[in-house]
Amino acid sequence: MIKINQKFENPLEHKTECLIIPCSEEKTPSGPLKTLDTALNGAISQAFKNKRFEGKPNQTLLLNSSLKATNLLLVGVGKTKEITPEILCRASATAAKLAEGSNFKSVSFYLNDSCFDAIAKGKIGLYSKLSCAVAEGAGLALYHFDEYKTRDEKDNPPSRVEKLTLIPTSKARQTAVEKSNARAEKIVAAVHFARDLISHPGNTATPTFLANHTKKMARKNKITCKVLGKQEMEKLGMGALLGVSRGSHEPPALIVMEYFGASKKKAPTVIVGKGVTFDSGGISLKPGAGMDEMKMDMSGAATTIATLQAVASLKLPLNVIGIVPAVENMPGGSAIKPGDILTSMSGKTIEVLNTDAEGRLVLADALCYAQHYNPKEVIDLATLTGAVLMALGHESAAVIGNNPAMIQRLKDAGDATGERVWELPLWEEFEKAVKSDIADLKNIASPGVGAGTIIGAAFLKPFAGDQPWTHIDIAGMAWGCDKPYTNKGASGYGVRLLINYLEHRKR
Ligand code: BES
Ligand code: ZN
Ligand code: ZN
Repeated sequence: MIKINQKFENPLEHKTECLIIPCSEEKTPSGPLKTLDTALNGAISQAFKNKRFEGKPNQTLLLNSSLKATNLLLVGVGKTKEITPEILCRASATAAKLAEGSNFKSVSFYLNDSCFDAIAKGKIGLYSKLSCAVAEGAGLALYHFDEYKTRDEKDNPPSRVEKLTLIPTSKARQTAVEKSNARAEKIVAAVHFARDLISHPGNTATPTFLANHTKKMARKNKITCKVLGKQEMEKLGMGALLGVSRGSHEPPALIVMEYFGASKKKAPTVIVGKGVTFDSGGISLKPGAGMDEMKMDMSGAATTIATLQAVASLKLPLNVIGIVPAVENMPGGSAIKPGDILTSMSGKTIEVLNTDAEGRLVLADALCYAQHYNPKEVIDLATLTGAVLMALGHESAAVIGNNPAMIQRLKDAGDATGERVWELPLWEEFEKAVKSDIADLKNIASPGVGAGTIIGAAFLKPFAGDQPWTHIDIAGMAWGCDKPYTNKGASGYGVRLLINYLEHRKR
């Protein structure tokens, strides 16, 4: 876990290899920033004057310094009035990556008044949110996954930031930063955990691997974890989930996590995450190009498991259940075939017209299982459709559900965290489009219907129960997002969204 420190100290006296200073677009440094500028013989104001640095969001300027901080890194945060936690998160991530790329091992952020107090205006709660965003941005940006690099490279490892410090400007703010650092550490650890699970290749991260790592996580936190195997699922009649699993030699697992932060009588929020540890498409085999990326088809599962870790480590006062149907989708000799009909746990029969639309099959049984908990609300997260990439690219997940108020709360959480969601409509025409001629439902619509992402949700709806339910299609957000605080691969999208959502949830 990344440790994030704080030190209340005059920045002129602060020892570090790289002192990062968030700067807004104001031309003249004032307050402590002015003192710093003077100590540097006007280097900061000079940079503004000759437009080498203008404080635009994520703009950077690295300066040598004769202070105790041997290098100074200015990072832009845009117009003071428009500063938000997300802007600070991106700026600190940009700066942290640049500092690491410049081989600095100790890095400090100066939470100077002109950026932070101008927004917080003495409100310590808001100040704390801003400093948390800085810590999160840096922590998230400094993620690496190098477990599979061989020893040679490990002996000559690339330079890593080893010490991260935030510098508040007063004693009162020091306590706030101490608290927000502790919070950021837990959130960053959870997102890193999700990214690790997703980054492992399919031959490591099997359903059994996911189950074992979840059990380990649960033991460390106050979470009960049980794992149902094939036989238990057979007893429950989970024909849809087991159908997907049939073409693989890897045994399936239904991973169930229970966290009770409130009275057990209170109805829980249930989170269900698609855990297809590799999606070859099955008999409806995917094309070869890019198939390797389908190891990420358990991103919904990773987010669910990591969110439970975060909820427990932050000790949120509510009840949350996580359910992960974990399977591998392979075209083995016993695999299901197009045209096969499966009987789901709910009793509803499903005509499988495309074995590559497998996520909705495993979710159907997991959503039905969720009803055991009499949930207050159900959220499912899934890399369900390629179509969502056409609609929203890597900029937002799609949300589709049966309760406008719940969707609005998710949108608010998305805007606050930068993990955006965008609603698509679930009109009854789409629900009709998944009715089968020969069974109750079919897993894809007829050619020409289009709206692939909505069709996925329309299929799930009959299994989701009558309580508020929202489906989040994260296929565009889980992988390949290019944000300052993500890398090329797994993003861990959804953990920060759900934590924010749950924290604002009325009990
Ligand atoms: N796992 C895929 C969806 C996906 C695509 C995730 C791209 C991440 C990136 C899903 O199981 C799938 O194959 N969906 C099909 C559905 C179709 C057969 C109706 C798709 O999107 O093509
Ligand atoms: Zn598929
Ligand atoms: Zn899939």
